[in-house]
Amino acid sequence: MYKIVAETLFTGKKVIYLPSCHSTNDVAVELIHSGEQVNGTVVIADYQTQGKGQQGNRWHSLPGQNLTLSVIWTPSFLAPSSAFALNMVVSLGVADVVQTCLPQASLWVKWANDVYVNNLKISGILIENILQGTAIRYSVVGIGLNVNQTEFKGLPATSLKAQAGREWSLPQVFNQLMVCLEKRYLQLQQQGYTSIKRDYLSRLYQLGQPAKYIDLRGEVPLQFEGIIKDVENAGRLVVQTAKGIALFDLKQIKFV
Ligand code: BTN
Repeated sequence: MYKIVAETLFTGKKVIYLPSCHSTNDVAVELIHSGEQVNGTVVIADYQTQGKGQQGNRWHSLPGQNLTLSVIWTPSFLAPSSAFALNMVVSLGVADVVQTCLPQASLWVKWANDVYVNNLKISGILIENILQGTAIRYSVVGIGLNVNQTEFKGLPATSLKAQAGREWSLPQVFNQLMVCLEKRYLQLQQQGYTSIKRDYLSRLYQLGQPAKYIDLRGEVPLQFEGIIKDVENAGRLVVQTAKGIALFDLKQIKFV
């Protein structure tokens, strides 16, 4: 069903298709631990029984309707302190493919790496890095992209079909996704962090706009109004608050 991608240099040149598995990220990590893996290998499943989301959450996706996959990259050029660059690469790559499919849609990357269409989440990304000494040996890039599912049990989620009103070919979207991901990966490798960050900030949801957030750093959650100013190199969100600049990790801030 999923063919080797012809239009890329390395991403998707080896595709491991599984009708079902617990989590494509976990399978990819197991493969890495069982021996060398080629840069760009993809593990893709029709159904995950234990799909993993960010912050210990689960990723639910109906069988055979969406893309649930993990790309194995070997970004040896990237220092672990710059690992957030991969989050930017992947969210931009996913945003690129969604924008190609839905040219009219209003599309944002909600920090750190959720892709939103018309204020509804269409894709989630979970990156797990395997370090060796002071280098990133492997990066397992897990992507869930909602394609043909239209029922999300009241969650603020959407899919390509829900937005476009028509069915999509999973292999075709997969192909396009691989092309878009690799383009952004090469942009980082060849043009550097600043170039990727510029494009990431241009897609960043609520950048420069006053908005309400919840500060989860203390014992009691505190709602406040702030303005997203930037994302620092390590990936923390830089927010202007009434009290000055505050930096937030993923679990420390909630968008209201
Ligand atoms: C999120 O919480 O938004 C991240 C979701 C990531 C889901 C993908 S689906 C393919 C890969 N395998 C997993 O177990 N999770 C990621």
